[in-house]
Amino acid sequence: MSTWTPDSWRAKPISQVPAYPDAAALAEAERQLATFPPLVFAGEARDLKSKLASVARGEAFLLQGGDCAESFAEHGADHIRDFFRVFLQMAVVLTHGASKPVVKVGRVAGQFAKPRSSDTEVIDGVELPSYRGDIINAIDFNEASRVPDPDRMLQAYRQSAATLNLLRAFSMGGYAELTRIHDWTVGFMKGSNWYPRYEEVARKIDDAITFMAALGLNPDNTPALRQTSFFTSHEALLLGYEEALTRRDSISNDWYATSGHMLWIGDRTRQPDSAHVEYFAGIKNPIGIKCGPTLSNEDLLRLLDRLNPTDEAGRITLIARFGSDKINDHLPRLIETVQRAGRTVVWCSDPMHGNTIKASTGFKTRPFDRVLSEVKSFFDVHREMGTYAGGVHIEMTGDDVTECVGGVSAVTEATLADRYNTYCDPRLNASQALELAFLVSEEVHAQKPPRQRLAAGE
Ligand code: PEP
Ligand code: CO
Repeated sequence: MSTWTPDSWRAKPISQVPAYPDAAALAEAERQLATFPPLVFAGEARDLKSKLASVARGEAFLLQGGDCAESFAEHGADHIRDFFRVFLQMAVVLTHGASKPVVKVGRVAGQFAKPRSSDTEVIDGVELPSYRGDIINAIDFNEASRVPDPDRMLQAYRQSAATLNLLRAFSMGGYAELTRIHDWTVGFMKGSNWYPRYEEVARKIDDAITFMAALGLNPDNTPALRQTSFFTSHEALLLGYEEALTRRDSISNDWYATSGHMLWIGDRTRQPDSAHVEYFAGIKNPIGIKCGPTLSNEDLLRLLDRLNPTDEAGRITLIARFGSDKINDHLPRLIETVQRAGRTVVWCSDPMHGNTIKASTGFKTRPFDRVLSEVKSFFDVHREMGTYAGGVHIEMTGDDVTECVGGVSAVTEATLADRYNTYCDPRLNASQALELAFLVSEEVHAQKPPRQRLAAGE
């Protein structure tokens, strides 16, 4: 550990790395980035870590979500606002149903780099390098667009800064004030079956606010009614970008990633001796680890030893993404491994990435039923094992897209083409996201506090 530096990952085996044609241009972009201001502060990352520690104790719940991939083309204020208000609605439904604080972490303001299952893509017999996210190359299917361009890192940084600026204004400047709960209503969702349920929650919150006002508590004198805390996260895949934004905190003297509050390691880059794990070992942010079916118990223990040697609570969130048909084969063994080792983690369910299928029309989609089923199994397994299901991690948007089939919004295979706008994986639309929040709130509400952990060796 004493040999760790922000660039020590460069000596380790790396996967998912773009082939930049011009090394000098890449170095120049990284050099410039390293002179730019941090996007987030170490103190904020520490605050999130302590909130996640309360999730690990079973006292709060984590809601993490946003685009699979942000894009340069979709950067309007409306897009950001629409995401944020659905995210707030979900958080309100969860807070109300679960009677617990909800820790809100967006996949936003930095979620630009995508791991790919293949280095190339073939369309009509033409083979080109795969699209790797707007921070690396462009999605258009032509040779020039697919060449990795280091200047895209600078554009991603600037877009992240602008997005974060708006989100900070929304969180702190009145938009998130609970008295505005009815204003968050999204027009196209009004006709749906569950919308009356949302209005009912909103009405109960109104009553509570009226009661509190009678006691003298109002948004002017009670910050919790006026503002909310919101954090950012993304997959730290493009390590040159992350290294340039890794800064030493002047208070603690520790290194922090300042590209986002929480970073996670993807399911394809989490090999214990990989460059990605090396990078994560030295930053003090709270971090996530995606756990798919190929993660062995031994590798999970090695990762926990390497990434959290002192077993600091809130440092590690394990994001389980097995698929509705595989979760029961894998989650119990990983929970048992963590329990036996006496380790502290937040358990979070990503019910998206193990449930992607190809529709008969050729679109990549996710059946809403399978998403719900994986979340339900996640809670069932935790209930049986006496552990705490601490959060959900979803790909969602505030827009009325048609990317995942099912739910009361009734997107079908035949309507997928209508508004299939994602740059990568299919996302829940606003209506499906809120429907999921209702189901999750019932599960969290029914959940008991975690049992005492088994001591090591028991
Ligand atoms: C993602 O979260 O977009 C992703 C690629 O996930 P995973 O690493 O779990 O496949
Ligand atoms: Co994705």
